[in-house]
Amino acid sequence: MSDNTVLLVDDEEGVLNSIERLFAKTGMNIIKATNGEDALEFVRKENISVVVSDNLMPGMKGLELLSKVRVISPDVVRILMTAHSDFSTAVDAINNCEVFRFITKPWDNRELINIIEEGINRYKLIMSLKKADESTLLSLAQTIELKDKYTRGHCDRVAAYALRIAERLNLSEDTKKDIRYGCWLHDCGKIGVPEHILNKKGRLNEEEFEVIKKHPVWGADVAKQAQLSQTIINIILNHHEKYDGAGYPAGLKGTDIPIEARIVAVADCFDAITSERPYGETQSFAKGMEIILSLKNSAFDSEIVDIFISSMNRDYDSPDIKGKSYEYNNR
Ligand SMILES: [Fe+2]
Ligand SMILES: [Fe+2]
Repeated sequence: MSDNTVLLVDDEEGVLNSIERLFAKTGMNIIKATNGEDALEFVRKENISVVVSDNLMPGMKGLELLSKVRVISPDVVRILMTAHSDFSTAVDAINNCEVFRFITKPWDNRELINIIEEGINRYKLIMSLKKADESTLLSLAQTIELKDKYTRGHCDRVAAYALRIAERLNLSEDTKKDIRYGCWLHDCGKIGVPEHILNKKGRLNEEEFEVIKKHPVWGADVAKQAQLSQTIINIILNHHEKYDGAGYPAGLKGTDIPIEARIVAVADCFDAITSERPYGETQSFAKGMEIILSLKNSAFDSEIVDIFISSMNRDYDSPDIKGKSYEYNNR
């Protein structure tokens, strides 16, 4: 079954036809409806991945349609088209329909295509997460790594480091399995981040960093939708939180950050600084350890740092970090 069927809903046929033409060569399957009732029929009968609906239509409004779609088929990705000035509709859509994105009319063709393609990707991601067997999750992690070319092998190494820590904390087998899956998926929200930002050399500007900062929430939303375990969701959502509260997305502090996420944060950072990235130079093993140690109590939980360091090499002498401070801006 194809996962690329898009349902377009607008009372103006001209709008439907021009969007359909835009997707003529993309291989997407486009279905059109001119009112909410017809659209709901399609949602019940067809295998729809994404619904794009206008809001102002006679009869059922777009908002009402999307909230019904959410009940009938909650995995369908919902996109609302609104007029530029219609701010209150946008707020309603967020609160009541969990809309994935908005498109403002008149739309920009390139942007419209990107948003719908992201919607399709999100739908596919939810579908494969729902299967949640080991080989699906691993191949999914590799898909993310393909998009972000510097992270090849990253997810697997992060899992290996995190499990060394989990082992020493005597966590249960189930938790360890979830930590492994959470590590594979920790950056799955990057599917929603444009490649030119992911692979940008050097520093990101503020606007670009704001986009990057959304990946934990996007990823966790998808994992929730796929009903993955709370441990996995915690890792995806909180892997960029810092112990001192300076992280993102929520700025959680200390033990408010779930332990599985505190573990993965250390593992993720160590692998990021010791492997090749578009930003920042590659550090040696010893330097990587030194940087992790220097971030004890600021970015990281000191107990977990100690366990990590001792898990990495029994003969390794902790370096003297007095007076040294490092900046760490892992994406
Ligand atoms: Fe991340
Ligand atoms: Fe990472």
